[in-house]
Amino acid sequence: MKRDFLTMEQADVADITQLLKRAEFMESSISGQDKSLDILKGKSIVTLFYENSTRTRCSFELAGKYLGAQCVGITTSGSSVKKGESLIDTAITLDSMKADAIVIRHSVAGAPALIAKHVKASVINGGDGMHAHPTQALLDMYTMQKTFGTLKGLEVAIIGDVKHSRVAQSNIVGLSKMGAKVKIFAPATLRPHGIENQPCAVCRNAEEAFRGSDVIMGLRIQLERQQKGLFPSAEEYNRFYGITAERMAMCNKGAIVMHPGPANRGIEIDCDVLDSPMCLKDYQVTSGVATRMALLEWATAGR
Ligand code: CP
Repeated sequence: MKRDFLTMEQADVADITQLLKRAEFMESSISGQDKSLDILKGKSIVTLFYENSTRTRCSFELAGKYLGAQCVGITTSGSSVKKGESLIDTAITLDSMKADAIVIRHSVAGAPALIAKHVKASVINGGDGMHAHPTQALLDMYTMQKTFGTLKGLEVAIIGDVKHSRVAQSNIVGLSKMGAKVKIFAPATLRPHGIENQPCAVCRNAEEAFRGSDVIMGLRIQLERQQKGLFPSAEEYNRFYGITAERMAMCNKGAIVMHPGPANRGIEIDCDVLDSPMCLKDYQVTSGVATRMALLEWATAGR
């Protein structure tokens, strides 16, 4: 049986709850000297990345290896995609090699859902265009739950380039499903169309975003996805929307800062905040391995 993980919209609260719980066991397992488990012995995982990645790709590959699976990674530059092989043909080729799970990242929204229809392997979305990044949302939820004990009632402000952010999209849906209160703060040019129909509040100024928040989630300004002119300059962006120590002082006691990475230091977030103990960016990376171990187990169970 195949089990795809494509969007937070499609994820059940029961499945998310179970994955977050299981990730605790996985985290404790990788915190010891011997990280190896044999839960996925005999299974094979392929990562198929059409876009650059450090965290997502490497953490899926390590997660599979820690669980005892065979893991192979493909990027466009080293594959027959360069010779013009189509996405579906590439996915069917990997399926014919008896992959149990294919983790795909693609610049086109909907690419993971498309290949999921053509392969027997379980398909996991590692980020598709500006659409979704559900495993990032899962690791972010895990990080918050571990810090605060619960997601229910947490006030989470997502700040920055929401329009181009699949991380924001998946977190808005996932966090609100799990009972957190989500708000966003972005220049009008970096707010997605239809945001008012999403389960989040839209802040008009920095005070609304920071005051009363438990979590501040910074987003990378995605210069590669946007046209020029969406904000006047990096300095001005930082002045109005930057995550600064002064603004963090408006948050609730014990508030944390999160960032999916990679961060543009000094633009969306100041270096002193990014490098401070309140910023959990490095723990998010560890959470990424633990949650992806739980997810690979879930996706290949029953195969
Ligand atoms: N957060 C994230 O998706 O990082 P990578 O692009 O390095 O995978």
